[in-house]
This record gives sequence, structure tokens and C-alpha cells, in this order.
Amino acid sequence: MEFCSLSTLAMADRHGEDSPYFDGWKAYDLNPYHPLFNPSGIIQMGLAENQVGSDLLEEWLEKHSDILAWKGTLTSFKETALYQDYHGLANFRKALANFMVEVRGGSVKIDPDNIVLTAGATAGNEILTFCIANPGEALLVPTPYYPGFDRDLRWRTGVDILPIKFYSHNNFEITIPALEKAYQEGLNCRKNIKGILLTNPSNPLGLTISPTTLEKILDFAAEKSIHVISDEVYAGTVFSSEPFTSILEIMQKSSKSYDSNTVHVVYSLSKDLGLPGFRIGAIYSSNQKIVTASRRMSSFSLISSQTQVLLKCLLSDSEFIATYLATLKKRLRRRHGEFVKGLKEIGIDCLEGNSGLFCWVNLRKFLPSDNFDGEMKLWRVILGEIGLNISPGSSFHCQEPGWFRVCYGNMNDADMNVALGRIICATIGETTKIPLTSTPVEGRVMATLDVEQQAESLA
Ligand SMILES: Cc1ncc(COP(=O)(O)O)c(C=O)c1O
Repeated sequence: MEFCSLSTLAMADRHGEDSPYFDGWKAYDLNPYHPLFNPSGIIQMGLAENQVGSDLLEEWLEKHSDILAWKGTLTSFKETALYQDYHGLANFRKALANFMVEVRGGSVKIDPDNIVLTAGATAGNEILTFCIANPGEALLVPTPYYPGFDRDLRWRTGVDILPIKFYSHNNFEITIPALEKAYQEGLNCRKNIKGILLTNPSNPLGLTISPTTLEKILDFAAEKSIHVISDEVYAGTVFSSEPFTSILEIMQKSSKSYDSNTVHVVYSLSKDLGLPGFRIGAIYSSNQKIVTASRRMSSFSLISSQTQVLLKCLLSDSEFIATYLATLKKRLRRRHGEFVKGLKEIGIDCLEGNSGLFCWVNLRKFLPSDNFDGEMKLWRVILGEIGLNISPGSSFHCQEPGWFRVCYGNMNDADMNVALGRIICATIGETTKIPLTSTPVEGRVMATLDVEQQAESLA
């Protein structure tokens, strides 16, 4: 029988899905935690999902359930059901532009005509990469970085990622000497470097990039004549008193006249509004060639008109949006504070974050061996024995073993406290073996060992 082969692209492993980051999700899917129906299941702490403000969104949607009910009008049916202009609905782009300004504290100008709609930031990052670099050319990306970039920037584009290595001694801060080193190493390997991709706020660090550093990066990029892409999908999650600074703000307010044709932002409503299922993303660029090319490419990843109609109404409700964003920050600040404090009490340190839906936790002292092998062994114990899916630093290309990203934004307070309880039990050596049950202790739901249940499950 003749073998029917597939394309090189289909068979390539450059999508990066063979990583513990994705394996942990699979393990969770096979045995998901539920407080009543599966209390010994795996708690998903490896998914950067925002459920912290879901109740507000649900309430709004319930109140406005008539939006998608057609009301028998032919116009609204036609507007949503027939082929759309692939520029997206003009009023939706306008509403999204206003929201992007609001999330950036009103300190940037965003022209709706320079927004290209994409099905999430995933598509936005890939399209921008397609526009900026040819196969074999390269983008610089600071480590640790979001594992999905291996797929989004590299896989179908054929573009290479050159990691810029950062370390814990200065809180993984981006420095120009490290940037220069990565750039020179790329040149030494005869790489044509086309740009640098920042994630601000950072996933997995949960930290923003300071305005001074952003300015230095813009200077560096201008000197080397390379593009800057800023993935700002977590812009609305900054919970510190210091506001978020977008690269657009630095560029627009600077007296240095940076070339706006070389600075581009990727955004989506997946994180700030917690709507990853709606697949709403955007590229923002003043470079008309990029806007035109991206728009053409966006034909492959359009957002349905129905979603645009609904979200246009939501984003245009300025009172709701202001309340939502303020509440989100407040809740994230509290959630982050409680989680970090809980870990600190048992001697586990986290990077001091100010944003995101997760924290970057240092478990180096628990590694059975001080290397990435040890990190994988610890990860397997945490997943299999403690029942938590957290993501090892190696999957974010972190250069030091022992760091883990732990998400707390994708669950309610009770589940977070069960997770904390499991970590506490495991750390103080009480048990590393689940099942565990939830018992309220002084207002906090602590996980405690249910010996009977354990005996039953072992029988
Ligand atoms: C930094 C970063 N960019 C992009 C994405 C993908 O976002 P979207 O769901 O909008 O495609 C993620 C998702 O985790 C992310 O963390």
C-alpha cells in the first residue's frame, strides 16, 4: 500500500505543543477537580484565564439579552448573517479603539482605521510576524516568554525566535546589554533580525515593563532599524497603583520622533475582559503597508459579525466598562495578595508582580536536583501527587530551573484556597497524596487530608 504523505508544515514539530505546558492541560482534562463531584481531581492552575470578573459580564449579558434576538428586523439579520467587510464592522472597531484607550488610562491615541481585527491575539501575532519577517529571518523575544509564541511566531511563518536571556537576580528585567548580546549572537549566526517582540505586562512574570525600559528598547530598535511588537493582552490587569504604560504612549509622547511605522501593538479581549472563547483580537499599527497586508491576511481569521454586534454594545456602555475595569483591578489585587501571602507563610517566594492572572513562583529549593531535570521531576510530583497543574519555567524558556507559573485568575476564591491548602499540606510534609476535601477554617477553605477517602480510593 502506498503511503500518503503530508506536508512538511503539517508534520513539523515547530508548533511547540509537545511541552509540559500543554501536557498539563491534557492531564487536567482527564481528571478535572470539582469540589463535590471530583474533590481529588487536578486543579487547573496552568491556564491564564480571567474568571475574576465573569459575574459582572454575565449580569450585563443577561440584562441585554435582547441584543442578539433579531427582533424580527431584516436589517439586523442582514448585518450579521451575510458576508461582512473584512475590515470588520466600523462601529465595533470604534468601540474597540475607545476601550483600548480606556485600558491605557486615556493616555494614548488609537485610530480605529488603523485597527485590524483578528481571531484573538494568537492570529494577530502570527499575522504581524508574516508581515515583518520572511522564513529564516528572526525575531528577538525576551525570556521567559508565553509558550504559545513558539507556535504563533514560528510554526507556519518559518521565522525563528532568538531568545533574549534574563535572570532572577534583577527580577528578569529587560536590559540593553542583554538585548545587544542576543542581537550580536543572532548576527554571528547570520540571522537577519527583523524585530523584537515584547509582552507587556509579561506572561509569565505578571510584571509590567517600566517606561524608562520601554524608551531604551525603542532607542535600541531605532538604532538597529528593527520593528517593535508589543503584545499588550494583559494591559487591563495591572493592579498596582502605578498605571500601565503602553509602548504607544512612550512613542506618541516622546520628543525623539520615533518612526511610528515600526511600532505595533497586539491586543485582544481574551484576558482583560475574560472572553477568550469569543476570539476577539486586534493589531494596531500606523504603518499603512502593514495595516493593508494584515487586513488581507485577516480573511483567514475573521471575527463573526454576531460577536462584533454584541461586543460593540458591551464596549460602548462606558459606565459598565469603567466599573468592570475598576472592579477587576481591585479583585485581582486582593486575589494576588492573598495567594502570595499564603505561599510566603510557608516560605515560598514569588516574584513581586503587579499584573496578570498568575504569579511567578520560585520552587528552586524543592528541586530534587538543581537543573531542568529536577524541575520536570518536581512538576510531575505537583501534577500527579498534589493534584495541581502549574507550568514549569522551562516551558517558558526560562534560563533558571525552579520557576513555575501559577494561575489564580481562572477559579473562584474557594478553589484557590483548596489549591493553597494542598501546597501547604505538601510543604509541611503532611501528605503529597490526594484526595483532599475542603473544610472551612477561619474563613479560609483549607484542604485537609481525608484519610478515610484515601483508604477507600486505595482499596
Ligand atoms: C502573551 C499572550 N499573547 C497572546 C495570547 C493568546 O491570546 P488570544 O486568546 O487572544 O489568542 C496569550 C494567551 O495566553 C498570551 O498570554
